[in-house]
Amino acid sequence: MERPATSIHGQWTTRWAFVLAATGSAVGLGNIWKFPYIAGENGGGAFVLVYLLCIACIGLPVMMAEVMIGRRGRQNPVNALATLAKEELAHPSWKYLGWSGIAAGIFILSYYSVIAGQAMAYVFRAFSGVFEGVTPDGAQSIYDALSGDPERLLAWHTIFMIITMTVVARGVQHGLEKSVRFLMPALFALLLLLVGYAANTGEYFNQAVSFLFTPDFSKLTSEGVLIAMGHAFFTLSLGMGAIMVYGSYLSQDASITKVSISISIMDTLVAVLAGLAIFPLVFANGMEPGAGPGLIFVTMPIAFGHIAGGQFFGGLFFVLLVFAAWSSAISLIEPAAAWLVENKDISRRRACVLIGGTVWTIGLLTVFSFNIGQTWTLFGKTAFDLFDFLTANIMLPLGGLFIAIFAGWFMKQSSTTEELAIQQPIFYYGWRILIRYITPTAIVIVFLKGLMDAFGL
Ligand code: PFF
Repeated sequence: MERPATSIHGQWTTRWAFVLAATGSAVGLGNIWKFPYIAGENGGGAFVLVYLLCIACIGLPVMMAEVMIGRRGRQNPVNALATLAKEELAHPSWKYLGWSGIAAGIFILSYYSVIAGQAMAYVFRAFSGVFEGVTPDGAQSIYDALSGDPERLLAWHTIFMIITMTVVARGVQHGLEKSVRFLMPALFALLLLLVGYAANTGEYFNQAVSFLFTPDFSKLTSEGVLIAMGHAFFTLSLGMGAIMVYGSYLSQDASITKVSISISIMDTLVAVLAGLAIFPLVFANGMEPGAGPGLIFVTMPIAFGHIAGGQFFGGLFFVLLVFAAWSSAISLIEPAAAWLVENKDISRRRACVLIGGTVWTIGLLTVFSFNIGQTWTLFGKTAFDLFDFLTANIMLPLGGLFIAIFAGWFMKQSSTTEELAIQQPIFYYGWRILIRYITPTAIVIVFLKGLMDAFGL
């Protein structure tokens, strides 16, 4: 298999378009919905510190490796890895790494879409004024009524899947690129506004800052460290080929280091801002930071229910949350869609219908796990918890580990030097040491220790 010069799916029009699209993939429910609640469940500061360390020492080098492999292979993750493995005289089974990514994307989207569906439902609740003057108990019961109703969840899950498939079917420039150009700046502006509102809560804002940034290591377990590392992969969309496939549409002259740093910084900033918008309200209303997945669906309505213009801003917040989820969702199935188009010679549209149908069906398990299937558990976890744990804490870290091993040990130094094109040797060797030694060692240690802790071994 020869390495193509460009992808058959086209290319991002500019380097900035790639940064926006990859940031669109990275910034999503992971930052605004998941990060605050897992930080809450794992005790705050120490967890946040470990998460930041994981972004810098594991996430960034793996992101550079993924973009590099994608751009050099110029195809979907399975074919890109197969082509590069052949070129580097490595074993052809490296292509299975691409397969595990495609599977992870399908599993993640199956539950991601259900949560995004809840956010869509909240757009209507917020705009219609149901949150006006709402109490914490009232907000909780509004959330319980939605998540307890399988029909509603199913309807929203279906709608979200349809809009996701529509964008992917339209392709790189007309679908993916167009949709992220406005969404990202708008999301950023609104988050800043909400942090501004939360800053007015005075002592509660200070309490939130110290909750998030004062590390208390006695509150952190090794499972918590695994969750922090898994989240670093999840939030940067790493370990499953999403960034790899986006990299395959990146022009040859873009600096992989610069784009990767920009994406990581923007993604981290959004997560921290979301924490600063949410926790002051949690404390101000005497709520529990460890409330779990319903956290933003309960706290944000209370905030919006008590501010001037809250009806409008609340609606807007959930609209943007849906947009953030949407731009991430499209990247979750792009690897599978690109694989079908490249290998099965079918149209993008048909590919999307096929994958969408599969994801939708698997998603039913998550829909039911919030209501009639609450008691269907395995290892004490519901279907939703299992998909989340399996993908974020097992598949993505393992995917990241093997990507690091491939880029660090199986690609020749001359190939990585050429593709990364880093001018200063110190930065290139810094990356190489991280990707060969530090990243894989850290992933293995955290992974094994965290798994043992999680399963009580
Ligand atoms: N990074 C997204 C988020 O934080 O919500 C989730 C995600 C998207 C994970 C794409 C993995 C991926 F490939």
